[in-house]
Amino acid sequence: MTNYDVIIIGGGPGGYLAAERAGQAKLKTLCVEDRHLGGTCLNEGCIPTKTLLQSAKTYAHALHGEAYGVRVEKVSIDQSAVIDRKEKVVRTLVSGVGAALKASHVDVVNGRGVITGRSAEGVTVQVGEELYIGKNLIVATGSVNAQPPIPGLKEALDSGFALTNRELLSLRESPARLAVIGGGVIGLEMAAYYQLTGTAVTVVEMLDHIAGPNDPDLVKILHRNLEKDGMEFHLGTKVVAVKDGAVVCEKDGKTFDLPADKVLLAIGRKANSAGLGLENIGVELEKGAIVTDAHMKTNVPGVYAVGDVNGKFMLAHTAYREAEVAVNTILGKADTMRYEAIPSVLYTVPELSSVGLSEAEAKTKGYEVSVVKLPMQYSGRYVAENEGGDGICKLVFNAKRGTLLGAQVLANASSEFIIAAGIFIELELTVPEMREFVFPHPTVCEIFRDALAQYKGR
Ligand code: NAI
Repeated sequence: MTNYDVIIIGGGPGGYLAAERAGQAKLKTLCVEDRHLGGTCLNEGCIPTKTLLQSAKTYAHALHGEAYGVRVEKVSIDQSAVIDRKEKVVRTLVSGVGAALKASHVDVVNGRGVITGRSAEGVTVQVGEELYIGKNLIVATGSVNAQPPIPGLKEALDSGFALTNRELLSLRESPARLAVIGGGVIGLEMAAYYQLTGTAVTVVEMLDHIAGPNDPDLVKILHRNLEKDGMEFHLGTKVVAVKDGAVVCEKDGKTFDLPADKVLLAIGRKANSAGLGLENIGVELEKGAIVTDAHMKTNVPGVYAVGDVNGKFMLAHTAYREAEVAVNTILGKADTMRYEAIPSVLYTVPELSSVGLSEAEAKTKGYEVSVVKLPMQYSGRYVAENEGGDGICKLVFNAKRGTLLGAQVLANASSEFIIAAGIFIELELTVPEMREFVFPHPTVCEIFRDALAQYKGR
């Protein structure tokens, strides 16, 4: 039995950052990880997807170089080499996490942590035969793919006909035809890679639009762009079964078969809270997610939950910040989690980035709204780098106060500068104050300066 100041279950972005911060603050810290440090984000999510997409963009640049005066002959994509590079990138970053934890004097144990009880000393966590006691416990176990009871799906997953992002990110041979169930983030990012590298991709989405809650003005243009690249869509269509060589779809009460060589299941993720022993200490859950307050505290004293497992925002960068809030709270430092200006990015080509409220959300919340919508062609850099690009930028203002409520940008590189709008929102700057900032020229982010110049107020 070993005692710790903090035990962290889960070594993904929420868990490893919490461990690093706790270790740096001289707390005796243990991080328990069942699979690989880095979690879903580093091993089978954000990073591998972006690595693959970079290969796809490089390939697409070579294929369509003519628009930029570059003619390349005999361009081809080597899927196996793409996967090799992805594995190299993942290895580098995972070992970086290990090194950072070591430098922060964090103990790491490989195995599945199960909470067995709680006493005056703290919470007991069992890993294999070993018992550990933590004065504090941070649960950071992430999320798992949702697997609805679609007939034939389990068999298809077992046989390898249907895949989750985990397997699709490691396929060494691209399928000729890929059916994607779900036109949300995972579905579209994976669809983008495979479509750009030559697979015929069809996305089946239950709603009448792709990209979930994103602003419809931008989503329409994104949809057009993806279709132009050859992607096909069945909207308002539900996958009701999976059988040999096809998914069975239902639209307006009629069913039809969509033939495919592989099927991607991307219909959402759920908090990974099962089998952790949370019930042994009475941690409150809501729809499987751990209930937390603004300091990441659960209902059990000394027990915190950060990242996907609390179901608030299933995004790695939210987990990072929540991890800091949890550790600061343990250290007795005042810190509060704010969710109003968390950026979110759909890494399709082009990227769709957003922060704060959309126009519709702002109106629903009762704001008097003023909107500036600008084509990305206002940015010289965008025009120089995006032949035929038709992206837009939308800023949503609180018309009464002249402050920014939200920003949405459909343009490559928008993921790199959406944070600027996030800062404006967080600081509640007024339009005249925002206009005083000097943007580097020429950059794509100058679109914010131009959009601010267009603001007319009420
Ligand atoms: P999602 O919730 O974004 O999209 C799932 C889609 O599947 C929805 O549009 C839903 O209407 C549709 N759907 C559900 N059942 C269906 C059926 N039977 N037939 C057809 N369509 C159906 O979930 P997704 O894409 O799996 O992503 C999960 C989570 O992972 C996200 O919520 C996000 O937090 C995280 N993520 C974030 C990324 C990013 O920030 N760039 C990238 C990848 C994942």
